[in-house]
Amino acid sequence: MKLKEALRNDLTEEELQHLIGSFDVVGDIAIIIIPPELEAKEGIIGDAIINIQKNVKVAAKRNGIVSGEFRTIPLKIIAGENRKETIHKEHGVRFFLNPEKVYFSVRSNNERKRVANLARPGEEVLVMFSGIGAFPLVIAKLSQANEITGIEKNKIAHEYALQNLAANRKINNVKLLEGDVKDVLPTFDTMFDRVIMPLPKTGELFIDIALVKLKKGGWLHFYDFQQEGSFDDSVEKVRTACQRQNRELIESESIVCGHPSPRVYRICVDAKIR
Ligand SMILES: C[S@@+](CC[C@H](N)C(=O)[O-])C[C@H]1O[C@@H](n2cnc3c(N)ncnc32)[C@H](O)[C@@H]1O
Repeated sequence: MKLKEALRNDLTEEELQHLIGSFDVVGDIAIIIIPPELEAKEGIIGDAIINIQKNVKVAAKRNGIVSGEFRTIPLKIIAGENRKETIHKEHGVRFFLNPEKVYFSVRSNNERKRVANLARPGEEVLVMFSGIGAFPLVIAKLSQANEITGIEKNKIAHEYALQNLAANRKINNVKLLEGDVKDVLPTFDTMFDRVIMPLPKTGELFIDIALVKLKKGGWLHFYDFQQEGSFDDSVEKVRTACQRQNRELIESESIVCGHPSPRVYRICVDAKIR
């Protein structure tokens, strides 16, 4: 049953107009946006979510916006069990996480699979900004890459990533490092076939250091927020960094992988670089 239908007897017609009927489910936690007009009814809305979705045990509302270097969001529990930790399954991988303390988007699941399917057997893959290990572990699960290295600055996310690697015992080709990529990456001797940069908004500040560790003919996956019709501006960010680093962008495609607000898209520039 849909949330609006479930609440038909509990909310007025006007309140139903304000209700956002969709929500994300991370493990057994539902995360919903409650508009200010419905704050007094948030408990009823949370109970309704738990009633209609049997796998959900906690209902939480976004209590702010995604912000800060670690891209986290405050959550307030509005119904169900009093906890914020859960286990989320994606592409056969189990992830422990607390969605308030770390960034994790269930909506990027197809994108993680898309990139994993691009990785060729034997590749060395680098995931800058690896969070709880979602990209590294999904790539390890779905590809035959040789080794996948992740770097993450949020200590809590990194600790979850280590826990997730340990929990998925069949995966043994993932290396996870804690720290700022600006400090950690220059210490590497390895050159990578593929570098993934899932940090839209500020990721462009890191393209140059990514290029230094990308093999000739390697692929860069650069994420950006972009307006419709301006995707070439994101490609230009990569091309300009290539010029600074004496490299050449030889092939690129911009893939839409999210739509966070009405006119803004989350895109990935897949760029082959010589
Ligand atoms: C948008 S999230 C993506 C997380 C993860 N890749 C995923 O898809 O679930 C960006 C991540 O980059 C991390 N981060 C931000 N700046 C960083 C830096 N300078 N070095 C390493 N990690 C950083 C944040 O803590 C956050 O976990």
